[in-house]
Amino acid sequence: MSPSKPDSYHTPVLIEETMEALAVQPGGRYVDCTVGGGGHARAILERSSPGGQLLGLDADPEAIKIAQKKLEAHRNSVLLVNDNFVNLQVTCIKYDFFPVHGILFDLGLSSMQLNGSGRGFSFQRDAPLDMRFNPGQEVTAADIVNTSSETELGRLIRTYGEEIRSRQIARLIVRERPITSTLHLVRIVERAVGRRTGKIHPATKTFQALRIAVNLELENLEIALKQAIELLGFEGRLVVISYHSLEDRIVKHMMQREARGCICPPGTPACICGHKPRLKLIRRHVIMPSEDEVQANPRSRSAKLRVAMRLIAQDDCLATDEMEILWAEIKARAWRRPALLRKLQMVFAMA
Ligand SMILES: C[S@@+](CC[C@H](N)C(=O)[O-])C[C@H]1O[C@@H](n2cnc3c(N)ncnc32)[C@H](O)[C@@H]1O
Repeated sequence: MSPSKPDSYHTPVLIEETMEALAVQPGGRYVDCTVGGGGHARAILERSSPGGQLLGLDADPEAIKIAQKKLEAHRNSVLLVNDNFVNLQVTCIKYDFFPVHGILFDLGLSSMQLNGSGRGFSFQRDAPLDMRFNPGQEVTAADIVNTSSETELGRLIRTYGEEIRSRQIARLIVRERPITSTLHLVRIVERAVGRRTGKIHPATKTFQALRIAVNLELENLEIALKQAIELLGFEGRLVVISYHSLEDRIVKHMMQREARGCICPPGTPACICGHKPRLKLIRRHVIMPSEDEVQANPRSRSAKLRVAMRLIAQDDCLATDEMEILWAEIKARAWRRPALLRKLQMVFAMA
């Protein structure tokens, strides 16, 4: 599998692996929850042609503009929406876009946001401490850094950055504030923890923590994954690419939990939860980029792809004869509404 070509906006990661995991097929319907520069979206549209459709979401209005240009050739098959994926279900219902054959999350931020947005995501260039994916959001990184208590800051940097020197960093931040620029924050972190000794820059974890907090990344991911399961048709694929362990843990636990039957606490004498598996794990382990891909696109080095397939819980299933009776009734009632019929036909074909 060849790594994708470099792109000035963002080079999509694990592109072949993603297409395979989504099992993209002609005529399929897909949701790209993080459309970014449109790299994965374009590959999905190309491979689902003829007849494929894609709904692309991104919280960042700039990303939507770029994706619009990139996907111009597919304009009749794509709908781009500037919204947070926490609103995935509402958006799909609003645009009558469900059930779907596949849903993709390629988490985090694009190379363009990191290097060229001027929104302070990078500790390597000076910019205002902003870090909002959507400039319409209220809280910026500067708000958090300049108004949180030392304890809150320490906890945040520890939890979202997994930074063991969080207390020292928080103490120095509080002593030095107000802090409004990225390089000012970098200097404070360096003073608190010492200059670079290992491979990663000492400010990496603090920047990660602030970005996660500003954009409520983990909370939104948990909510959106639950919604995604509901939107998938039978055997629809859920594919998530994550870039740090906090995200990957959420994805892994959710997929494993949904793939299990009983989820009663260990030692419960008889099942009381009634939980039915709604997902099947396609690959038990994560898929990671090849050495070639990491060399061509170093940003891909931390990527981890997980994939699962939607099952219909036994309670959701009807016996074949019940299905036939129901389908006949629906056809009789809805014959004047071809769009609705087509949609229901798809549900029945999938179920
Ligand atoms: C890694 S990039 C996606 C790149 C894309 N797959 C491509 O091929 O160009 C991640 C994108 O997700 C967006 N994003 C992150 N969190 C989001 C959220 N909660 N809702 C919607 N978009 C989000 C970011 O704005 C960014 O554009």
